[in-house]
This record gives sequence, structure tokens and C-alpha cells, in this order.
Amino acid sequence: MRTIVSKGALEVAGKDNTKGPETSPDQVFFEFAPRPPAPVAAATEPTPAVQPELPGQTIMPWSQSPSPTPAQAPVRSFALSKPAAPAAPAPSPYDAVASLEELTRLAADCRACGLRAGCRGVVFGEGNPKAAVMLIGEGPGSTEDEMGRPFVGPAGKLLDRILASVGFAREEVYIANVVKCRPPGNRVPQPEEREACRPWLEAQVRLIDPLFLVLLGASAAQALLDPKARITQIRGHWLERYGRRVLPTYHPAALLRDETKKRPVWEDFKLLRAEHDKAAAGRGQQPPVG
Ligand code: URA
Repeated sequence: MRTIVSKGALEVAGKDNTKGPETSPDQVFFEFAPRPPAPVAAATEPTPAVQPELPGQTIMPWSQSPSPTPAQAPVRSFALSKPAAPAAPAPSPYDAVASLEELTRLAADCRACGLRAGCRGVVFGEGNPKAAVMLIGEGPGSTEDEMGRPFVGPAGKLLDRILASVGFAREEVYIANVVKCRPPGNRVPQPEEREACRPWLEAQVRLIDPLFLVLLGASAAQALLDPKARITQIRGHWLERYGRRVLPTYHPAALLRDETKKRPVWEDFKLLRAEHDKAAAGRGQQPPVG
């Protein structure tokens, strides 16, 4: 059964997040923490004074002035001019693979490109095998290569905080990468390496069957949407691929280099949260067909 997780209330750790300009935008992922699950209120109980943040609600823990970013902006669709990536996965040798475990086992022996020769092992992905939300990064870095798990280095730690800031636990989602083997020196994977790894990623998507794909950074956007996609142009726009709703956003590593990207990413994850919760309530938007 697909896990659609109901949203947990959010709070600034140790603070009332409805007041005060004392938290800066830079701190948003560091100070937001999921509130422990609230007890189920009896029908007669009064509404609590502090409401959980609602999708689209303007709660800016760092400022009392209105956000210049339209926090209530409707979900937009955005057409890529010439999507070169296929709308449906091409037939692949893994079409008959019926479980994620089997796929993971097969991938461990992959030599479809040169990357495997230069890394310790395949970092296939991890998380809820029936997640509603699947996040796709670029490729393992050195910590990931060492530990055999995706997003466990500094960018991964930040990703965990980003997820927590909108009430997702890491275990609720599934996390994967465009390429499963670490490119030498953490360079950007080349187009032919992305293509060699595509059947694995597509099989992963088929088996997990998520409602939402979150593309973290340019490599993921270029691999799944359009080789010419520019993440600065398409981030925060709902797109469609493989019949699923796709939200590109900046890669967490980009946020470590440029803190001004934190806020747009937070806005993007709030959009994701809102659409997830609509889907959970049976009001989700379907991706366009065809
Ligand atoms: N960057 C990625 O794109 N993926 C990881 O797993 C880690 C860092």
C-alpha cells in the first residue's frame, strides 16, 4: 500500500513560530523540526491556539513582513519547449523484474558504463519502497560511496532537514540518484553515463510507483526532462514525466554553496507538501495525459 503521510505540525525548535523576526532565512532548515504527533483531539475540544502550518500559509519565522515570494502561488504547469527525454520509459531488460530487492541485487553487478570501475560499489537507493514521494539526485559522493547509501554526506544531512521542515521523515520517501556509481572526483555524470543508468532509474520508478518525483538539481532535470533543462528556469514548476507529477528544485549541495537558494527550495517543498496532502485527501491533481 502506498504511504501517504499526513502532515505533522511544524514548529521552530523551542520557539513560537507564529511570532518574531528572530529566525533568519538562513536558519530555516536548521531550526524547523517536526513537532511530535499531536494527540487526536476529541470532537468537543477547542481548536488549539497554534495551528500547524497549512500549505500556502505565509509563516515566515524569520520575518513579520510579507514574503516577496508568492507563498500562495497556485501550482503552475510549465511546458518544456522540446522535451527530449521520453514520456514513457523505453523497453528495458528490467521490465520483468518484479521487486525492488531483485532490481537492487541485479544492479550490484552492473558494468553498463565506466563508473563502476572507479567506485567502491553501487549506491542504488533507499527508503519506503511504496513511497508517494521519490527524490532523485545526481550521483553518489564520497560519503555515499563509502557507506553505500544515497544522500548521507553534508548535502544529505541538509536534505533530511529540508524534508523535516515540511513534515516528511526520510524513511517515508524514497531517495535515489540518476547514476548509481560515484563519478570520479565527484564530477557531474556525463550524458552517456546518465543514459547507461536510465533503465535502472526507470525500473525503480516503475516498482516504487510514486505519485511525485522531486528532481534535485540540473543533472536529474536533464536526465528526466530535457538535456537542455535549466534548473534556474524550471524549479518550482510542476511538470510531468512517466505519467507522474514532477517537481524540479535545486540540489541541496547548491544550497551549501549559495544560501540564497534555501528559501526557494523551502517554498518548493511546501508546494510538494501541499500537493501530497491534497492527494492524500483524494483531491490530488492528475498529471496531463499524453
Ligand atoms: N549528491 C547526490 O546527488 N546524491 C547523493 O547521493 C549525494 C550527494
